[in-house]
Amino acid sequence: MTRFPLGFWLLLTVGSVWAHDDAYYSFDDFVKEYGKIYNSDEERQMRKEIFEANFLTIQDHNNNNKRDEYSHVLAVNEWADRRIPEELPLGLHKKAVVAEDDPLNLMFITRPTKKQSTDAAEAFYQDWLKNTVVPVSELPKEVDWRSHNPKVTTHVKNQGFCGSCWAVASTEVLESHIALKTGKLFKLSPQELVSCVQNPLHCGGGGGCQGATYELAFEYVMEHGMVPEKEFPYRSGTGFNVKCSLVNGTLEQESSSLLRRPFDDNTHDNDYIDGAVATIDGYINFPTNNYTELMNAVATLGPIGVTTAASRWSFYRGGVYEVKDHQTKGATDVDHAVVLEGYGIDQESQKPFWLVRNSWGASWGEDGYIRLKRVDPSTLPDFDEDDCGIDTDPSDGAACTKDKDGHTIKPKPVKVCGTSAILYDTFVPVGGRLISNKNKKESRKVQVS
Ligand SMILES: *[C@@H]1O[C@H](CO)[C@@H](O)[C@H](O)[C@H]1NC(C)=O
Ligand SMILES: *[C@@H]1O[C@H](CO)[C@@H](O)[C@H](O)[C@H]1NC(C)=O
Repeated sequence: MTRFPLGFWLLLTVGSVWAHDDAYYSFDDFVKEYGKIYNSDEERQMRKEIFEANFLTIQDHNNNNKRDEYSHVLAVNEWADRRIPEELPLGLHKKAVVAEDDPLNLMFITRPTKKQSTDAAEAFYQDWLKNTVVPVSELPKEVDWRSHNPKVTTHVKNQGFCGSCWAVASTEVLESHIALKTGKLFKLSPQELVSCVQNPLHCGGGGGCQGATYELAFEYVMEHGMVPEKEFPYRSGTGFNVKCSLVNGTLEQESSSLLRRPFDDNTHDNDYIDGAVATIDGYINFPTNNYTELMNAVATLGPIGVTTAASRWSFYRGGVYEVKDHQTKGATDVDHAVVLEGYGIDQESQKPFWLVRNSWGASWGEDGYIRLKRVDPSTLPDFDEDDCGIDTDPSDGAACTKDKDGHTIKPKPVKVCGTSAILYDTFVPVGGRLISNKNKKESRKVQVS
């Protein structure tokens, strides 16, 4: 049995006490601590080898912490026997796509040409730009929506082994914005989104546990509303898709013609699903890579849906996460949706950070959260060079891999900025409201063919 001295990874540079008491930590300890069960000796051996490689990576990072002046530390967690990033639960692929028959490969189709989701959202956004947005220097020095009174954030969720980050993050953002608007903090159902949001254009993956996007989730909620968690509890954590079984509690069909395709004009009436308690009027997708707008958005509007390059976050334990090679794939390959819930300056290191809520359970990171290094572009000689990179990888699934005519389309590189590309693609729902019975149509009759 190989034992690793733990001495190195007793972490001294960061304030909190994260050190294991034991001087040694082995694969057997890990198996015991996390209740791991393997089906065969072969699997156990394979997991042991992965664990040992990951353990070395963790030690190495922590050991070099001082020299490289990283202010974040890593630690063993439940992913330590997983291949990283292949076996990380993410659930979002890049959405920038280009038509295959575009000979010059120049056309960026990053989102619908419509400026915002609805006229109401566009009007709200224009008013916000004009009357609310201020220079960053005039914003509060720190923001943390967890401390809002009354509460507007729920407990940290765990997506499990399902690529449902998009559904979980959308649900969390919706919970907060419905609470901010109505005073009612619901625990809403990510399973509803995982199971019921249709993804015919393969945006952000194949749908459900295979990935989708904020746009699809919000468009769905605008039309169908959201039910509380207890109406449709999360069951996809093992990685399996679950049928959309909400309508009248009996719908057992995989795809529903009731659900509209993404980006259609908002022409038909809303058709709220039975049990839905809340909805939104639209959502804003902010301009890409704009620090000023993102700071103002999280300071004045509430939690913000963001997309990130998270393939290297697996063993984050605490501190202000940063990358030294911000133009490499691990720093620019957008693959994960999470929620921005504030910002501040770390007392210990004096580094500014973004406060980000992840969906890997409350025992991951800092009580389920990660703080990402935040850099004000005005402090950089060359923002593009110093804090941006190109998300180039077309192979790991662009958001929309089909266009409206069913043609296959390929991903196109995009410029992404900020730590883990946090500035690239950001969203907020608008017009959160409760669904009262009189908004509801008569109970929907369902045809199961
Ligand atoms: C970012 O947004 C602000 C506020 O809308 C705007 O004044 C500024 O020009 C934008 N910056 C860039 C680089 O687009
Ligand atoms: C929906 O629920 C109502 C009342 O429980 C029931 O009478 C009706 O048959 C249900 N419809 C379907 C399609 O199951």
